[in-house]
Amino acid sequence: NSLHLDYKNVDKYINNEILKEEVSKNKKLIENCLKSKASDSDSLGWINTYHCNDEDMLTKMESKAKEIRENADIFVLIGVGGSNQGARTVIKSMGDSKVEILYAGNNLSPAYLKNIMEKLKGKSVYVNVIAKNFATLEPGITFRVMRQYLEETYGEKEAANRIIATGSLNGSSLEKLGKMKGYTLLPFPLDVGGRFSVLTPVGLFPIAVSGVDIRKLLAGASEMEKTIHTTDIYKNDVVNYAVIRNLLLKKGYNIEILGVFEPLMEFFNKWWVQLFGESEGKDGKGIYPSSCSFSEDLHSLGQYIQDGQKILFETFINIEDMESSYPIPLEKEDIDEFNYLNGKDFSFLNRSAYEATVKAHYEGGIPVLTVNVPKLTPFYMGQLFYFFEVACYLSATILGVDPFNQPGVEAYKINMFKTLKA
Ligand code: PA5
Repeated sequence: NSLHLDYKNVDKYINNEILKEEVSKNKKLIENCLKSKASDSDSLGWINTYHCNDEDMLTKMESKAKEIRENADIFVLIGVGGSNQGARTVIKSMGDSKVEILYAGNNLSPAYLKNIMEKLKGKSVYVNVIAKNFATLEPGITFRVMRQYLEETYGEKEAANRIIATGSLNGSSLEKLGKMKGYTLLPFPLDVGGRFSVLTPVGLFPIAVSGVDIRKLLAGASEMEKTIHTTDIYKNDVVNYAVIRNLLLKKGYNIEILGVFEPLMEFFNKWWVQLFGESEGKDGKGIYPSSCSFSEDLHSLGQYIQDGQKILFETFINIEDMESSYPIPLEKEDIDEFNYLNGKDFSFLNRSAYEATVKAHYEGGIPVLTVNVPKLTPFYMGQLFYFFEVACYLSATILGVDPFNQPGVEAYKINMFKTLKA
């Protein structure tokens, strides 16, 4: 049982022959990507999942996470971009509520920060600051506020016990600060960029704090790695996904909408948007990644998707069995006129809405891809992460851009620092 791609609903635009031809055209490129090893470049540390299965590191993270789960009311995750997206995805979709997890250092809003600081008062607080390059303003300056608060509240020594710093262990200022103060230090692998970091200590540690079994997440990713490497490239879902989206782009479908029918997956959408947006949008190229949470967004962007410009395609994440149900209560009188639903369940309603949407969009001229996921569990979430990371690497390479840099992020920073340092 594994995640699998269904592309029958792009048949009006791309048939099997065209797809095969395009895979053949890019065969060398694709094979090179699929053969890559972590040691091949300074950005591919994520590609071999066994690198993430370091037993000592897993035990260290699990034991600190256990301490936090026993002692904390609130755990603050400080990080931005790739440094918090992956963890937030898993925590929001399947984490428990034993410890409240708050996100800070992902914006510069004083109102937002004030609200977080208010919430900490009188609570037992632990903080995980995550930054590959500690020069990033949002997490860096928020951590200054937070560590001063912890030191004032608990004293220097206990504050240090409550701070976990995940950063580049190559002499970065965060490492220096951590060593000086005595924080628990976790490595942000030097050869992994933020948006590819969820299956490293960057994502795994906060995920462990939320009670999710990180070993299952890694097991799913490893299984997906095996599948990708042992499947013929013409029948390989990750290859087909990367090639189809590039073919659609060539045909003028410039926008991809990741659609979910499960609000628990909304933060997965954000992770995916960041992964593809920062990796592919450069050199004047790239598909614009967007997302929808249905059925809510059927009452919003749904109108545009159905009837607007034909410049977008959709990729649905279809969770085949959500393992949850809620029966529709019976009523004798049909005053609300919903009695035609008597005896049905919300899971049936949601599935019907999904199927009706795919059909309507397909018939309305929208190419539709579907990634089927058996269940919403850590194992399949691990598969999803690894699948899209490889897909992004392949897709960007086919597109002809470097997936691992983000030169465009610098432009606003130059302007901002001119003002800030003036
Ligand atoms: O994916 C990326 O590389 C970026 O989005 C970074 O994660 C983000 O800019 C945060 O960087 P840092 O961890 O250095 O603060």
